[in-house]
Amino acid sequence: MSQSQAYDVIIIGAGAAGLMCALTAGQRGRRVLVLDHANKVGKKILMSGGGRCNFTNMFSTPDNFLSDNPHFCKSALSRYTPWDFIALVESHGIPYHEKKLGQLFCDRKSRDIVNLLLHECQSAVVEIMTRISVLEVIKDEGFRLQTSAGLYSCESLVIATGGLSIPKMGASGFGYDLARQFGLTVLETRAGLVPFTLDERKLRDLSDLSGVSTEVEACAGGGSGPHACFRENLLFTHRGLSGPAILQVSSYWRPGEAVELDLFPAQALADTLKQARRETPRLRLKSLLSNWLSRRLAERWCELYLGNPRLADMSDKDVEDVIAYCQPWQLRPSGTEGYRTAEVTLGGVDTRQLSSQTMECRSVSGLYFIGEVVDVTGHLGGHNFQWAWASGRAAGEVV
Ligand code: FDA
Repeated sequence: MSQSQAYDVIIIGAGAAGLMCALTAGQRGRRVLVLDHANKVGKKILMSGGGRCNFTNMFSTPDNFLSDNPHFCKSALSRYTPWDFIALVESHGIPYHEKKLGQLFCDRKSRDIVNLLLHECQSAVVEIMTRISVLEVIKDEGFRLQTSAGLYSCESLVIATGGLSIPKMGASGFGYDLARQFGLTVLETRAGLVPFTLDERKLRDLSDLSGVSTEVEACAGGGSGPHACFRENLLFTHRGLSGPAILQVSSYWRPGEAVELDLFPAQALADTLKQARRETPRLRLKSLLSNWLSRRLAERWCELYLGNPRLADMSDKDVEDVIAYCQPWQLRPSGTEGYRTAEVTLGGVDTRQLSSQTMECRSVSGLYFIGEVVDVTGHLGGHNFQWAWASGRAAGEVV
């Protein structure tokens, strides 16, 4: 049998978590190899944040994460905070800015973050190989890996292969399959941070609003999982609904459930309507609503649901009807756009089988799972990268 090349640590997956783990372990003097099947490293980092990588969030806390075991992420997040990553970004002279709500983006390109990780890996003498398929993993005292480039062995094996979203960027179910191979439970996976699709009739009603954006308070969940509300923008698209408010609640939504969209999040609409009816009775409803909604949206809403009466002609019952269509607007999406466009995968390797200090598997010593493959999923706004950095760091300190 041919001789294997021996490393202290092999990491499968050269994304955010894998590279952070690699540079951390390399800095400790460990001999580290990173393997990736894609043609280049950090593809999701490169495409993230619209090409500017929202690399962390200054206000990230464990409350920004979904997991079947919400306490699991606390240890790693508290030991590697957004400020630790910001210090690293600053030490590389990378210019950045806060866009909103604590979300930090590169001023230039996401490439800055990939270069940072690669420079750190290079200084720590980490070896990285792309276009490598891992064909088989066997456990002996350590691990033996049969790959498309030959045999490798290691003491510690770290799985950082991410989730299922954007398959054309190299996403695969490898990490889940490997977890099952070693007897671990993988919690049901589903697309998160993903636009909603609508049935044909609703789409026909709303399609000419495609491109219109409006601030809403969007709420979802509460059936078989947690419930959450986000005050952010909603965007009408030619397939359904998107925008940050929708992406956020999509992670809480379950098929068949309705979402609640308050189109007037800053108004007690009933009071506003009654007051306007007294003070400006000749005004038409559409004109009043245009004070808060874009003209196209106010127009379409009146055409579809509300009519365009003069305020003086509206009874209390008419006011109640307006409220029923706007505050909140109850909408039942037909589905989501799925992994094709989702930013993240919810579910994954059950955290109850991992140490929250080190990410090591309790039942298989030397085997670690980090990043998105684990059942920890962040809100939109830099939290997912913060989890990748923190979990990668936690494992990198001990492998
Ligand atoms: P990641 O997916 O980054 O890396 C996994 C690596 O494993 C990849 O390099 C892949 O090729 C490799 N791999 C997979 N299967 C393999 C196999 N069988 N063999 C070998 N290698 C394999 N988050 C955020 O915080 N801010 C943001 O701005 C964005 N923006 C964003 C935009 C878009 C379009 C998407 C799809 C996602 C985001 N995200 C984000 C989410 C963020 O990209 C994601 O949570 C992290 O990249 C997860 O890091 P990981 O290292 O766990 O997986």
